[in-house]
Amino acid sequence: MLMDKALIIGYGKLGSHLNFALKHSGKIEVSGIIRNVKNTKYPSLVECSNIIFICVQDSKIKSVVRKLSSREYDLKGKYIFHTSGSLTSEELIPLVGKGAITASFHPVQTFESKATKNESRFSGIYIAVEGNPKALKKAGLVSKYIGSMTFIIKKENKIYHHICCVMASGFLAALARGIEKLVSKKIRINGFKNLSFFNIYMPLASQSLKNIASKGAVKSLSGPAERNDISTIEKHLGALKNAPADVLPVYMLMGIETVKLALEKKSINRLQAEKILKVFVKQTKHLN
Ligand SMILES: NC(=O)c1ccc[n+]([C@@H]2O[C@H](COP(=O)([O-])OP(=O)(O)OC[C@H]3O[C@@H](n4cnc5c(N)ncnc54)[C@H](OP(=O)(O)O)[C@@H]3O)[C@@H](O)[C@H]2O)c1
Repeated sequence: MLMDKALIIGYGKLGSHLNFALKHSGKIEVSGIIRNVKNTKYPSLVECSNIIFICVQDSKIKSVVRKLSSREYDLKGKYIFHTSGSLTSEELIPLVGKGAITASFHPVQTFESKATKNESRFSGIYIAVEGNPKALKKAGLVSKYIGSMTFIIKKENKIYHHICCVMASGFLAALARGIEKLVSKKIRINGFKNLSFFNIYMPLASQSLKNIASKGAVKSLSGPAERNDISTIEKHLGALKNAPADVLPVYMLMGIETVKLALEKKSINRLQAEKILKVFVKQTKHLN
């Protein structure tokens, strides 16, 4: 059986990691990488590849599709994937008319910078796929080679899947920024420089994530709202008036959500929840 030859269009954060993962697999040859729209080898690289990964920004997928739709490309029997989390395989419809077998291929992973060493961010992760059944089969095989697992998502649900990804990743970073600000402005822990203070809070965050994975969000809740420690919440809110201003709204937003969670966990009753929520409402006048 001939080895698959994969072309990567777009060598940014995801494209560079995918390149390493494919090369590491030893099962798929990377036939080429196209780093920008002006690359003159586009036609020859497309011709010698049977799999094409479009790893450009969401907003640029259409222009790559337009380019591949032109008469100079024969796409018959080629597997073409894009890696967007929010867009569906519909983006690739113009290529189906040219014989391509298409699907979306979304690695549920964060690639915050380009790959600098041969690290595999694909091992043990899930890849959300949707599109032509033949393409899904191929996606399953490629995923297996790079140590990932595919799951099929319905086109109409993809946007909700992407919202979950944003909440699991970007929103966590936004929360962590609040911790960074409090540490740098309010705690100044001796002996901890730069980001090393996260060593203190990371085991707590990691255990919370483990609990959430094994028991779900509701059962994993602990903290002042869960214990009905209303005076602690009042103290937090008071202290945050003297902290970097943008931490208070984050604390309030998440704090209100934990009250609802505590109610769901039944560790507090409705009356207690209402009392805590009133404490939050009183603070709204301190928001800019
Ligand atoms: N990063 C993540 O964590 C992540 C996770 C899952 C899925 N994704 C998806 O993966 C895709 C790529 O995201 P990314 O974060 O890797 O973006 P990125 O770092 O901005 O990389 C995109 C690369 O594509 C290049 N490019 C643009 N148009 C091109 C063209 N016509 N031909 C060849 N190269 C072209 C860009 O060059 P210029 O900078 O010169 O435009 C850039 O180097 C997106 O669809 C995104 O939704 C990303």
